[in-house]
Amino acid sequence: AAERLLSGIRVLISAGPTREPIDPVRFIGNRSSGKMGYALAAAARNAGAEVTLVSGPVALDAPAGVETVRVETAAEMHAAVMARTGGADIYIGTAAVADYTPGRVADTKIKKHGEQLELTLIRTPDILRSVAALADRPFVVGFAAETGEVETYARAKLEAKGADMVAANEVGSGAPGGFERDENALFVCWRGGECHLPLASKTEIARRLIRLIADRYYAENTD
Ligand code: C5P
Repeated sequence: AAERLLSGIRVLISAGPTREPIDPVRFIGNRSSGKMGYALAAAARNAGAEVTLVSGPVALDAPAGVETVRVETAAEMHAAVMARTGGADIYIGTAAVADYTPGRVADTKIKKHGEQLELTLIRTPDILRSVAALADRPFVVGFAAETGEVETYARAKLEAKGADMVAANEVGSGAPGGFERDENALFVCWRGGECHLPLASKTEIARRLIRLIADRYYAENTD
């Protein structure tokens, strides 16, 4: 069905992992493929939205018709997102942002010396929380990658981050969907409601989640 559910709505999405450099050749990364965020960008575009995608390093092509901004580190992703929130009606944070980054990046490749090497890591900015804390802010959707008690953690995250909606999926051993997978199942909650999106391709899950986000966005931004 050619729904133009989000016609005229500007959607900003962050996707993929971040890479935190240790030295000129090494980094700390994670297993995020970016597939969920890219699928959401395509689904929002198909729903008629004007989409901007801020992406960490992934092996995916930029979706057609989506303004794609490539970044590497959590700090770069934070800056790229914050520079674009002014023009956004909806922000969806799907990126697997590193929570910690090396305190200093070595200028030259670190050599093997002793049996142990210590790295000091410092906290990165929380992008989702920063967007949710803005005075004039978009409708904010966060993701939660948990390995158990998904519903409890999703509700807690909604409050802790000050988001309007949180979508949680089970990842890790034995879980049916999530990182590096083509399928996903989501538990979605907001203040005053919740819903389960059962296991489906990330393309289909993205379509359903965009519909849900549009419903909640309009519920809070009309009359
Ligand atoms: O805090 P936690 O990583 O569990 O929360 C996940 C959500 O917060 C995701 O939406 C993720 O994109 C976002 N996040 C962020 N900046 C961080 C860490 C997480 O935007 N530094």
